[in-house]
Amino acid sequence: LKKIAVLISGRGSNFKAIKKSIDEGYIKDACISVVISDKENAAGLEFARESGLDARYINPKEFDGRENYDRELVRVLDELEIDLVCLAGFMRIISGYFVENYRNRIINIHPSLLPSFAGLDVQQRAIDHGVKFSGCTVHFVDEKMDNGPIIIQAVVPVLDDDTDETLSARILVEEHKIYPEAVRLFTEDRLKVEGRRVLQV
Ligand code: GRF
Repeated sequence: LKKIAVLISGRGSNFKAIKKSIDEGYIKDACISVVISDKENAAGLEFARESGLDARYINPKEFDGRENYDRELVRVLDELEIDLVCLAGFMRIISGYFVENYRNRIINIHPSLLPSFAGLDVQQRAIDHGVKFSGCTVHFVDEKMDNGPIIIQAVVPVLDDDTDETLSARILVEEHKIYPEAVRLFTEDRLKVEGRRVLQV
């Protein structure tokens, strides 16, 4: 049984998609052991609680700096013997300490076709740049933001009348497909990282 930790900061729709895939048996032999939020009133945290999951708010203000916060995260993850960390709208940059301790065991979802449009406000930036296609990327997390080896991507068209909201919504539909798919591949030990490339075995 693979133990998953989901880290969120807000709505938690990707967390819900992963949970649904486990509940419905699409992802087998895996469980969500803990949901951690850095925001006390994250809607996703409330949902986790209502679902009877171990749902924890870890307040960044109680720790002096990023690395000390991440030391606490790693302590909790180690204690629970977590196999896979899913960042799902977790709005913090991960320290090198965290990456080193969970190398190739942290994955993230980003709402663009990386390496285009890393960082924040990416759907609006894609529209402003005039790209005709955007999408989303699930990738392993390394020391650089939105940079690690790419596991799965999905493409959506950018339409002439798109707004941040309409493009984000179109991308989100795909996020909810590819994130559970990536988790399934990971938990079935079917991902092999070779340099920057992630191969399905
Ligand atoms: C998603 O667009 C994800 O790609 C980005 O943050 C958003 C989180 O949404 N990293 P949710 O909290 O999973 O609903």
